[in-house]
Amino acid sequence: MAKTAPKKPFVKPANSNISAVKRSANKNRDFIDISDLEENELRKILDFAKELKSKLKTSGHPRYLAGKQLAMIFEKESTRTRVSFEVGINQLGGNAIFISGAQSQIGRGEPMKDTAGVLSRYVDIIMIRTFRHENIKELAEHSVAPVINGLTDYSHPCQIMADIMTIEEQLGNIKKQKITWVGDYNNVCRSWIHAADKLGFQLNVSVPENLKFEKFESKNVKYYSKPEQAVKDATVITTDTWVSMGENEEDKEKKKLLKPYQVNKKLFSLADKKAIFLHCLPAHRGEEVTEEVIDGKRSFIYDEAENRLHAQKAIMVWCFGII
Ligand code: CP
Ligand code: NVA
Repeated sequence: MAKTAPKKPFVKPANSNISAVKRSANKNRDFIDISDLEENELRKILDFAKELKSKLKTSGHPRYLAGKQLAMIFEKESTRTRVSFEVGINQLGGNAIFISGAQSQIGRGEPMKDTAGVLSRYVDIIMIRTFRHENIKELAEHSVAPVINGLTDYSHPCQIMADIMTIEEQLGNIKKQKITWVGDYNNVCRSWIHAADKLGFQLNVSVPENLKFEKFESKNVKYYSKPEQAVKDATVITTDTWVSMGENEEDKEKKKLLKPYQVNKKLFSLADKKAIFLHCLPAHRGEEVTEEVIDGKRSFIYDEAENRLHAQKAIMVWCFGII
Protein backbone atom coordinates (compact mmCIF):
# COMPACT_ATOMS: atom_id res chain seq x y z
CA MET A 1 0.00 0.00 0.00
CA ALA A 2 1.22 3.50 -0.79
CA LYS A 3 2.52 5.48 2.12
CA THR A 4 1.42 9.08 2.28
CA ALA A 5 3.54 12.11 3.07
CA PRO A 6 3.22 13.42 6.60
CA LYS A 7 0.63 16.18 6.52
CA LYS A 8 1.05 18.97 8.98
CA PRO A 9 -0.16 22.52 8.41
CA PHE A 10 2.56 25.02 7.64
CA VAL A 11 2.89 27.65 10.33
CA LYS A 12 5.13 30.58 9.56
CA PRO A 13 7.76 30.83 12.29
CA ALA A 14 8.38 33.97 14.30
CA ASN A 15 12.00 34.04 13.15
CA SER A 16 11.08 33.31 9.51
CA ASN A 17 13.68 30.55 9.26
CA ILE A 18 11.81 28.82 6.48
CA SER A 19 14.30 25.98 5.98
CA ALA A 20 14.15 24.95 9.62
CA VAL A 21 10.38 24.92 9.58
CA LYS A 22 10.23 23.09 6.29
CA ARG A 23 12.17 20.28 7.91
CA SER A 24 10.46 20.23 11.27
CA ALA A 25 6.84 20.93 10.31
CA ASN A 26 6.46 19.34 6.89
CA LYS A 27 9.41 16.98 6.93
CA ASN A 28 10.13 18.19 3.42
CA ARG A 29 13.66 17.99 2.10
CA ASP A 30 15.56 19.71 -0.67
CA PHE A 31 17.76 17.84 -3.15
CA ILE A 32 20.42 20.37 -4.04
CA ASP A 33 23.71 18.51 -3.92
CA ILE A 34 24.82 14.93 -3.40
CA SER A 35 27.28 16.31 -0.85
CA ASP A 36 24.31 17.40 1.34
CA LEU A 37 23.09 13.81 1.83
CA GLU A 38 24.48 10.99 3.90
CA GLU A 39 25.34 7.66 2.28
CA ASN A 40 22.29 5.87 3.68
CA GLU A 41 19.93 8.48 2.18
CA LEU A 42 21.63 8.23 -1.23
CA ARG A 43 21.40 4.43 -1.04
CA LYS A 44 17.71 4.66 -0.13
CA ILE A 45 17.02 6.81 -3.20
CA LEU A 46 19.02 4.55 -5.53
CA ASP A 47 17.31 1.38 -4.29
CA PHE A 48 13.87 2.98 -4.50
CA ALA A 49 14.62 4.16 -8.06
CA LYS A 50 15.41 0.55 -9.03
CA GLU A 51 12.19 -0.63 -7.38
CA LEU A 52 10.12 2.01 -9.20
CA LYS A 53 11.68 1.06 -12.53
CA SER A 54 11.07 -2.62 -12.05
CA LYS A 55 7.47 -2.12 -10.88
CA LEU A 56 6.71 0.32 -13.71
CA LYS A 57 7.75 -2.34 -16.20
CA THR A 58 5.69 -5.09 -14.53
CA SER A 59 2.70 -4.51 -12.26
CA GLY A 60 2.96 -0.70 -12.06
CA HIS A 61 3.81 1.32 -8.96
CA PRO A 62 1.67 3.33 -6.51
CA ARG A 63 0.88 6.99 -7.21
CA TYR A 64 3.03 8.18 -4.33
CA LEU A 65 2.55 11.87 -5.15
CA ALA A 66 -1.11 11.89 -6.16
CA GLY A 67 -2.40 15.43 -6.61
CA LYS A 68 1.01 17.07 -6.08
CA GLN A 69 1.95 20.01 -8.31
CA LEU A 70 5.54 20.27 -9.55
CA ALA A 71 6.84 23.62 -10.83
CA MET A 72 9.73 23.22 -13.28
CA ILE A 73 11.74 26.41 -13.76
CA PHE A 74 14.14 26.43 -16.71
CA GLU A 75 16.59 29.26 -17.23
CA LYS A 76 18.59 27.08 -19.65
CA GLU A 77 17.65 24.65 -22.42
CA SER A 78 16.73 21.02 -21.72
CA THR A 79 15.39 17.87 -23.34
CA ARG A 80 15.97 15.05 -20.84
CA THR A 81 15.47 16.93 -17.58
CA ARG A 82 12.26 18.57 -18.71
CA VAL A 83 10.64 15.47 -20.17
CA SER A 84 11.79 13.05 -17.46
CA PHE A 85 10.56 15.27 -14.63
CA GLU A 86 7.21 15.87 -16.34
CA VAL A 87 6.64 12.20 -17.18
CA GLY A 88 7.91 11.26 -13.71
CA ILE A 89 5.50 13.42 -11.73
CA ASN A 90 2.64 12.25 -13.98
CA GLN A 91 3.52 8.60 -13.29
CA LEU A 92 3.51 9.40 -9.57
CA GLY A 93 -0.02 10.84 -9.87
CA GLY A 94 0.94 14.52 -9.87
CA ASN A 95 1.17 17.28 -12.43
CA ALA A 96 3.95 19.45 -13.88
CA ILE A 97 3.93 23.17 -14.65
CA PHE A 98 6.68 24.42 -16.98
CA ILE A 99 8.06 27.88 -16.24
CA SER A 100 10.53 29.41 -18.65
CA GLY A 101 12.99 31.75 -16.96
CA ALA A 102 12.91 34.13 -19.92
CA GLN A 103 9.13 34.21 -20.17
CA SER A 104 8.44 34.61 -16.48
CA GLN A 105 9.24 37.51 -14.19
CA ILE A 106 12.46 35.71 -13.21
CA GLY A 107 13.81 36.87 -16.58
CA ARG A 108 13.05 40.47 -15.63
CA GLY A 109 14.97 40.11 -12.40
CA GLU A 110 12.29 39.22 -9.85
CA PRO A 111 14.26 37.97 -6.84
CA MET A 112 14.37 34.23 -6.19
CA LYS A 113 13.14 35.01 -2.69
CA ASP A 114 9.83 36.35 -4.06
CA THR A 115 9.57 33.58 -6.67
CA ALA A 116 10.00 31.07 -3.83
CA GLY A 117 7.44 32.76 -1.61
CA VAL A 118 4.85 32.91 -4.40
CA LEU A 119 5.41 29.49 -6.00
CA SER A 120 5.28 27.70 -2.69
CA ARG A 121 1.73 29.05 -2.24
CA TYR A 122 0.69 27.30 -5.49
CA VAL A 123 2.80 24.18 -5.84
CA ASP A 124 4.06 21.36 -3.64
CA ILE A 125 7.56 20.91 -5.09
CA ILE A 126 9.92 22.93 -7.30
CA MET A 127 12.63 21.82 -9.72
CA ILE A 128 14.94 24.49 -11.11
CA ARG A 129 17.63 24.64 -13.78
CA THR A 130 19.52 27.86 -13.33
CA PHE A 131 22.93 29.50 -13.82
CA ARG A 132 24.27 30.60 -10.43
CA HIS A 133 24.22 27.99 -7.67
CA GLU A 134 23.34 30.82 -5.26
CA ASN A 135 19.98 31.11 -7.08
CA ILE A 136 18.92 27.63 -6.03
CA LYS A 137 20.21 28.18 -2.50
CA GLU A 138 18.12 31.35 -2.25
CA LEU A 139 15.08 29.63 -3.74
CA ALA A 140 15.39 26.74 -1.29
CA GLU A 141 15.92 29.03 1.66
CA HIS A 142 12.65 30.85 0.99
CA SER A 143 10.51 28.03 -0.35
CA VAL A 144 8.19 26.02 1.83
CA ALA A 145 8.03 23.46 -0.98
CA PRO A 146 11.04 21.16 -1.46
CA VAL A 147 13.49 22.28 -4.14
CA ILE A 148 15.37 20.00 -6.56
CA ASN A 149 18.49 20.94 -8.50
CA GLY A 150 17.90 20.28 -12.20
CA LEU A 151 21.43 21.64 -13.01
CA THR A 152 23.33 24.76 -12.10
CA ASP A 153 26.73 25.99 -13.27
CA TYR A 154 28.10 24.26 -10.17
CA SER A 155 26.46 20.82 -10.15
CA HIS A 156 24.06 18.31 -11.73
CA PRO A 157 23.18 15.84 -8.97
CA CYS A 158 20.11 14.21 -10.59
CA GLN A 159 22.29 13.18 -13.52
CA ILE A 160 24.79 11.39 -11.30
CA MET A 161 22.07 9.52 -9.40
CA ALA A 162 20.85 8.18 -12.77
CA ASP A 163 24.42 7.38 -13.82
CA ILE A 164 25.10 5.39 -10.66
CA MET A 165 21.84 3.52 -11.14
CA THR A 166 22.94 2.64 -14.70
CA ILE A 167 26.36 1.48 -13.54
CA GLU A 168 24.85 -0.74 -10.86
CA GLU A 169 22.48 -2.27 -13.44
CA GLN A 170 25.37 -3.11 -15.76
CA LEU A 171 28.27 -3.82 -13.41
CA GLY A 172 26.98 -4.17 -9.84
CA ASN A 173 27.72 -2.23 -6.67
CA ILE A 174 29.21 1.21 -7.30
CA LYS A 175 31.71 0.73 -4.47
CA LYS A 176 33.48 -1.94 -6.54
CA GLN A 177 33.85 0.29 -9.60
CA LYS A 178 36.62 2.53 -10.76
CA ILE A 179 35.10 5.52 -12.54
CA THR A 180 37.19 7.77 -14.76
CA TRP A 181 36.10 11.23 -15.78
CA VAL A 182 38.00 12.64 -18.77
CA GLY A 183 37.61 16.15 -20.15
CA ASP A 184 36.27 19.46 -18.85
CA TYR A 185 35.95 20.11 -15.14
CA ASN A 186 32.31 21.13 -14.90
CA ASN A 187 28.98 20.76 -13.09
CA VAL A 188 28.62 17.06 -13.97
CA CYS A 189 32.20 16.32 -12.88
CA ARG A 190 31.63 18.11 -9.58
CA SER A 191 28.57 15.97 -8.80
CA TRP A 192 30.65 12.88 -9.61
CA ILE A 193 33.22 14.03 -7.08
CA HIS A 194 30.52 14.60 -4.45
CA ALA A 195 29.18 11.08 -5.12
CA ALA A 196 32.61 9.43 -4.85
CA ASP A 197 33.21 11.23 -1.60
CA LYS A 198 29.87 10.18 -0.07
CA LEU A 199 29.46 6.69 -1.53
CA GLY A 200 33.08 5.62 -1.24
CA PHE A 201 34.00 4.55 -4.78
CA GLN A 202 37.17 5.42 -6.62
CA LEU A 203 36.99 8.32 -9.06
CA ASN A 204 39.84 9.35 -11.33
CA VAL A 205 39.52 12.84 -12.77
CA SER A 206 41.63 13.71 -15.79
CA VAL A 207 41.47 17.33 -16.88
CA PRO A 208 44.11 19.55 -18.53
CA GLU A 209 46.52 21.10 -16.04
CA ASN A 210 46.10 24.53 -17.61
CA LEU A 211 42.35 24.52 -17.16
CA LYS A 212 41.59 26.43 -13.99
CA PHE A 213 39.57 24.46 -11.45
CA GLU A 214 39.26 24.11 -7.71
CA LYS A 215 40.39 20.67 -6.57
CA PHE A 216 37.90 19.06 -4.22
CA GLU A 217 40.01 16.95 -1.90
CA SER A 218 38.66 13.52 -1.05
CA LYS A 219 40.42 10.25 -0.29
CA ASN A 220 38.32 8.67 -3.05
CA VAL A 221 39.27 11.12 -5.81
CA LYS A 222 42.56 11.13 -7.70
CA TYR A 223 43.55 13.77 -10.23
CA TYR A 224 45.57 12.96 -13.35
CA SER A 225 46.77 15.24 -16.10
CA LYS A 226 47.36 12.26 -18.43
CA PRO A 227 44.10 10.57 -19.51
CA GLU A 228 45.95 7.35 -20.43
CA GLN A 229 46.95 6.90 -16.78
CA ALA A 230 43.50 7.81 -15.47
CA VAL A 231 41.61 5.24 -17.56
CA LYS A 232 43.86 2.30 -16.65
CA ASP A 233 41.65 -0.50 -15.22
CA ALA A 234 38.61 1.80 -15.18
CA THR A 235 35.26 0.02 -15.31
CA VAL A 236 33.45 3.20 -16.37
CA ILE A 237 34.68 6.01 -18.60
CA THR A 238 32.59 9.12 -18.76
CA THR A 239 32.88 12.60 -20.21
CA ASP A 240 30.77 15.60 -21.15
CA THR A 241 30.69 18.47 -23.61
CA TRP A 242 33.74 20.74 -23.59
CA VAL A 243 31.53 23.83 -23.61
CA SER A 244 28.67 23.93 -21.11
CA MET A 245 25.50 25.98 -21.43
CA GLY A 246 26.20 29.64 -20.86
CA GLU A 247 29.89 29.35 -21.82
CA ASN A 248 31.54 30.71 -24.96
CA GLU A 249 30.95 28.21 -27.81
CA GLU A 250 33.84 29.74 -29.74
CA ASP A 251 36.46 29.23 -27.02
CA LYS A 252 39.13 27.80 -29.33
CA GLU A 253 41.79 27.93 -26.61
CA LYS A 254 39.76 25.67 -24.31
CA LYS A 255 38.97 23.22 -27.09
CA LYS A 256 42.68 23.05 -27.97
CA LEU A 257 43.56 22.24 -24.37
CA LEU A 258 40.91 19.52 -24.28
CA LYS A 259 41.78 17.85 -27.59
CA PRO A 260 44.07 15.21 -25.99
CA TYR A 261 41.18 14.38 -23.61
CA GLN A 262 38.87 13.04 -26.29
CA VAL A 263 37.42 9.62 -25.46
CA ASN A 264 38.29 7.56 -28.54
CA LYS A 265 38.80 3.88 -29.31
CA LYS A 266 42.48 4.01 -28.37
CA LEU A 267 41.85 5.59 -24.97
CA PHE A 268 38.87 3.33 -24.30
CA SER A 269 40.97 0.23 -25.07
CA LEU A 270 43.22 1.01 -22.09
CA ALA A 271 40.33 0.55 -19.64
CA ASP A 272 39.09 -2.70 -18.09
CA LYS A 273 37.73 -5.17 -20.67
CA LYS A 274 34.23 -4.89 -19.15
CA ALA A 275 34.34 -1.07 -19.15
CA ILE A 276 31.23 0.87 -20.13
CA PHE A 277 30.91 4.38 -21.53
CA LEU A 278 28.52 7.01 -20.17
CA HIS A 279 27.70 10.57 -21.27
CA CYS A 280 24.95 12.72 -19.77
CA LEU A 281 24.10 14.09 -23.26
CA PRO A 282 23.81 16.17 -25.32
CA ALA A 283 27.09 15.02 -26.91
CA HIS A 284 29.31 16.49 -29.59
CA ARG A 285 30.51 13.52 -31.62
CA GLY A 286 34.03 14.14 -32.87
CA GLU A 287 34.85 16.48 -29.99
CA GLU A 288 34.78 15.00 -26.47
CA VAL A 289 33.96 11.50 -27.79
CA THR A 290 34.21 9.69 -31.10
CA GLU A 291 31.24 8.04 -32.79
CA GLU A 292 32.76 4.58 -32.47
CA VAL A 293 32.80 4.90 -28.68
CA ILE A 294 29.50 6.67 -28.03
CA ASP A 295 27.62 4.53 -30.56
CA GLY A 296 29.57 1.38 -29.73
CA LYS A 297 28.49 -1.77 -27.88
CA ARG A 298 29.91 -0.61 -24.53
CA SER A 299 27.98 2.66 -24.52
CA PHE A 300 24.91 2.85 -22.25
CA ILE A 301 23.87 6.43 -22.93
CA TYR A 302 20.20 5.70 -23.54
CA ASP A 303 19.84 3.54 -20.40
CA GLU A 304 21.48 6.44 -18.58
CA ALA A 305 18.96 8.90 -20.04
CA GLU A 306 16.07 6.53 -19.22
CA ASN A 307 17.24 6.25 -15.64
CA ARG A 308 16.85 9.99 -15.16
CA LEU A 309 13.12 9.25 -15.03
CA HIS A 310 13.37 6.61 -12.31
CA ALA A 311 16.06 8.31 -10.24
CA GLN A 312 14.17 11.61 -10.21
CA LYS A 313 10.89 9.95 -9.25
CA ALA A 314 12.72 8.44 -6.28
CA ILE A 315 14.22 11.83 -5.44
CA MET A 316 10.80 13.51 -5.53
CA VAL A 317 9.29 10.85 -3.25
CA TRP A 318 12.30 11.20 -0.90
CA CYS A 319 11.77 14.97 -0.79
CA PHE A 320 8.37 14.38 0.81
CA GLY A 321 9.83 12.07 3.43
CA ILE A 322 7.89 9.07 2.12
CA ILE A 323 11.08 7.01 1.83
N1 CP B 1 21.63 15.52 -19.39
C1 CP B 1 20.76 16.50 -19.31
O1 CP B 1 20.55 17.11 -18.25
O2 CP B 1 20.09 16.75 -20.48
P1 CP B 1 19.17 17.98 -20.81
O3 CP B 1 20.04 19.20 -20.88
O4 CP B 1 18.55 17.64 -22.13
O5 CP B 1 18.13 18.14 -19.73
N1 NVA C 1 27.83 20.37 -18.58
C1 NVA C 1 26.66 20.46 -19.40
C2 NVA C 1 25.64 19.45 -18.98
C3 NVA C 1 24.41 19.42 -19.81
C4 NVA C 1 23.40 18.44 -19.33
C5 NVA C 1 26.09 21.85 -19.33
O1 NVA C 1 26.01 22.42 -18.23
O2 NVA C 1 25.73 22.39 -20.38
